[in-house]
Amino acid sequence: MSYKHIIVEKKNGIGTITINRPQVLNALNRETLEELITVVQELENDPTIHVAIITGKEKAFIAGADITQMQEMNTLQAKKFGGLGHQLMQHIENSRLPYIAAVNGYALGGGCELMMACDIILASTHAKIGQPEINLGIHPGFGGTQRLPRLIGKIKAKELLLTGDTIDAQEAYRIGLINKVVEPEKLMEETEKLAQKILTKSAVQTSFIKELVNKGINIDLPSANTLEIASFSASFATEDQKEGMTAFLEKRKPLFKGK
Ligand code: CAA
Repeated sequence: MSYKHIIVEKKNGIGTITINRPQVLNALNRETLEELITVVQELENDPTIHVAIITGKEKAFIAGADITQMQEMNTLQAKKFGGLGHQLMQHIENSRLPYIAAVNGYALGGGCELMMACDIILASTHAKIGQPEINLGIHPGFGGTQRLPRLIGKIKAKELLLTGDTIDAQEAYRIGLINKVVEPEKLMEETEKLAQKILTKSAVQTSFIKELVNKGINIDLPSANTLEIASFSASFATEDQKEGMTAFLEKRKPLFKGK
């Protein structure tokens, strides 16, 4: 499938999506959101892919939803647009694939929201992160008011949402919003190294873990623990469980097949 606003590369089990609208700092318009939803489904259904990476072309990750397009929207159109953004984030969160965000620059508004829907976030020292929507007379519409407090707590989240302030990568790391700060020239190398490490694990287990954490965080603890027991016991019907435990006892590295 060919895309206009994104570049997709598939190599050695890793699918890399690069948002490619550098002239507007990779702002997310309708068409880009639609392409992203399609590519996330494409990677999901590709049995050769086990980890996905999302990054941005040139100096930005994503500077937000496309303000030029939003400026023209009425209430109904904004509802559809917000729905499209939420659909994308849900596809990423519900995906069997671990998604790594490689945040190479601005991750603002919808960019911060997309980053937060991913599973692991690496950011370059050049990254600037925030939810500046309040400065446009709106608030986040792709999940920012919900995912941000779940990730960093409501006090700090409200500060960022109410002031619209952007923070650098070091501060984002300090408050637990991202996993690691990396020198810009090392960002993709480090991201791929991380992806390679996850590729050596059981793909059944990476999808189970992702689902348990994402579902569990939104429901009560006893129900979430019940989900874990169900998934834990189901793990014992997999070849990977046999391989992992046998390899341990035979003092060798496991070779997981994702089955
Ligand atoms: N939408 C549309 N165009 C954008 C954009 C956006 N979100 N962000 C940047 N651009 C465009 C600029 O208009 C500019 O275009 P022209 O060259 O045609 O003038 C081009 O990208 C380069 O941007 P700047 O000249 O502004 O670059 P800069 O380095 O001086 O500043 C910046 C960079 C601080 C990121 C600044 O561009 C900026 O503040 N962008 C908007 C950030 C923002 O408010 N994001 C939230 C959007 S709302 C949202 O995301 C809602 C939601 O939750 C769904």
